[in-house]
Amino acid sequence: MERITPDRSPDKQTVGIFTGGGIAPGLNAVIYGAINVLAEHGHRVIGIAEGWAGMLEQKPIVEFQSFTRDRLQSLLRKPGTILGSSRTKITPVQYDQVRKTADGYGLDSVIAIGGDDTLGQAAELHKHAVLNMIGVPKTIDNDVTDTDKTFGFETAYNEAAHHIIRMRTDAKAMKRVAGVEIMGRDAGWITLYGGYFGGADITLIPEFPIPIERIAEQVRHIYSEQQYVVIAIAEGYIKNAGEADAFGHPHKEDAARTLLQIIKKETGLPTEVQVSGYSVRNGPPLASDGIFAAELGAMAGLLAHQKKYGHMVSLRGNEVTAVPLENVHGGRRVTADHYDPSTMRKWTLPPNIMRERPAIQ
Ligand code: F6P
Repeated sequence: MERITPDRSPDKQTVGIFTGGGIAPGLNAVIYGAINVLAEHGHRVIGIAEGWAGMLEQKPIVEFQSFTRDRLQSLLRKPGTILGSSRTKITPVQYDQVRKTADGYGLDSVIAIGGDDTLGQAAELHKHAVLNMIGVPKTIDNDVTDTDKTFGFETAYNEAAHHIIRMRTDAKAMKRVAGVEIMGRDAGWITLYGGYFGGADITLIPEFPIPIERIAEQVRHIYSEQQYVVIAIAEGYIKNAGEADAFGHPHKEDAARTLLQIIKKETGLPTEVQVSGYSVRNGPPLASDGIFAAELGAMAGLLAHQKKYGHMVSLRGNEVTAVPLENVHGGRRVTADHYDPSTMRKWTLPPNIMRERPAIQ
């Protein structure tokens, strides 16, 4: 693993930074980290508005040099993104326009903070020498390959867990079967971890569809024991296709409502539903997530300073490193090392141990 350390080259660069795709707790902390390192080396950092849309047409930029120390430092804890975001698709016929915008801003390089859609475009523009790109993987879904974790994921599942804890209060008092729907698009990571810590009796994730008869049997069994059940269900568990976004991702809708209606029909038990929705991503980061995000941003700033373009910042084990940007893909899914379909819950043993499970059975 390459160990990258700061050096002090004399040239003063102008680096653009933008945030694309769905928001995640820690986006502003990434910006803080990148500014921290780049300003230390005397470079100018400008914020580009609304993701790739801001590289297509000249929108008002943010001059971070004008920020007071206090305003900069508060970015570590600030929810959302001060630059705004978008799900904007760039086509090859627009490459010249992107180049013109970059020249208009005098950009030497651009740091893109986004998921596989945003960074996939960054890789393309880098490959076609339109822009010098550096990527910071971002998604609460935690499903970007080539990094062990994405910032915002921990905060998202912490929030999901609190929805589950509160729905247990309700279900227990009302003697109901409660379903809590949790974001994650086609990945079950947030539901898996939030469900485990929140104490969900059943956790349902897209990677492991369970026959409804089996779910109903487990609901009856648990209800007979404690007169209530709490189910954590990933929004992608039931393929209700809503309107698609610019990258063709259909919006996930009504997974919990659909499932609990079926359970009510199968078991005759009273049910209630809560959709945690956008609350798992629109709050401030946990301290751990904010610091992790700032370190990723600082690494991106260092790569820009060292002109190591075409890289994505990545977490490997405990180390922040850099991997080729063209490797970025979505689709990192929960595996049987994390999830036990027979109990419909996360294993308690860590995944590396479960990977060797024949040795421990
Ligand atoms: O990818 C992040 C995410 O929050 C998913 O978990 C969710 O399904 C999707 O974005 C929501 O899309 P939008 O931000 O377009 O509403």
